[in-house]
Amino acid sequence: MALTARFNPLRLLRTPAWPDQAPTWADAKPAVIDAALRRAEARPSGNWFVLGASSELRPGRALGRGVAGIELVVWRDSEGAPHVGPGACPHLGAPLCDAAVTEGRLLCRWHGLSLDGAGRPGWRPWPAHDDGVLIWVRLDEIGGQDSLPAPVLTTRPPAESSVSAVMTMIGRCEPADVVANRLDPWHGSWFHPYSFANLRVVSAPGLDCADAEDRFVVQVAYRVGGPLGVPVTAEFSCPEPRTVVMTIVDGDGAGSVVETHATPLGPGRDGIHRTAVVEATVAHSDRPGFTVARALAPALRPLMRRAAARLWRDDLAYAERRYTQRTSRPS
Ligand code: FES
Ligand SMILES: [Fe+2]
Repeated sequence: MALTARFNPLRLLRTPAWPDQAPTWADAKPAVIDAALRRAEARPSGNWFVLGASSELRPGRALGRGVAGIELVVWRDSEGAPHVGPGACPHLGAPLCDAAVTEGRLLCRWHGLSLDGAGRPGWRPWPAHDDGVLIWVRLDEIGGQDSLPAPVLTTRPPAESSVSAVMTMIGRCEPADVVANRLDPWHGSWFHPYSFANLRVVSAPGLDCADAEDRFVVQVAYRVGGPLGVPVTAEFSCPEPRTVVMTIVDGDGAGSVVETHATPLGPGRDGIHRTAVVEATVAHSDRPGFTVARALAPALRPLMRRAAARLWRDDLAYAERRYTQRTSRPS
């Protein structure tokens, strides 16, 4: 039996029918979620914003991104270091996301102006950081906090024994709505019954809470297929204002993390704010079979992204609803 459990984390789940599960609304107190959100918003970010997956930023290619209405271009120099600059060419405004990248420099397609990470008058790059899974930019004029030399990062499992995948989705809301959704763990089995079963919030932070205790602890089974699932204990916490981290602390995959980052894109032409949800899943397991899973990483990544996207389709509906309700409320 012990040997079976070592190789096979799946359990046959005994779950009530969806309408018969225990309601969680009485525990999911809006004031508790709100207080956790306010504490997260008060933490230092160093003015760093997640732009996307490190793997998306291939050498020799520029990418266009936006944060809070600022158009950005991202590229790697010949050493592989990331750089982020204004997205419009300082000559006549050509889109630099379409620039060629030659020998680590941007080469504007309109008239051949060459730009590098040192910048030039009228075109100043911002600090950029590649943490191995995600690319970040520091925008002091947007963040409004004291700057930090590097983003506030989460402890991840070692890269050599994990598989990571990054999913990005855009919502019509602000980062606070995305973070508030993640700080409501009580919705798991009710709102995502296709992914979660038997969710129980073991502990939640109080209205006043020291940083060290500021986390939600949840027991839940991840559904793998039909009645089969993997039971785990997970913690949710916010290392900085726009990030919620779920860490598996017990059960299969202990040490794995799911980092949800919310990056403000600014309002669209309709005046409604947009936010990019960039979610990095870094899966890890000590099980012998995980070595095989690592070898299959290229095939696994699309599946991991698809699972995250399915959850976020629903979670963005929740976040967008929260945004609509709070912004349309008569004052
Ligand atoms: S617009 Fe870029 S070189 Fe002219
Ligand atoms: Fe959710």
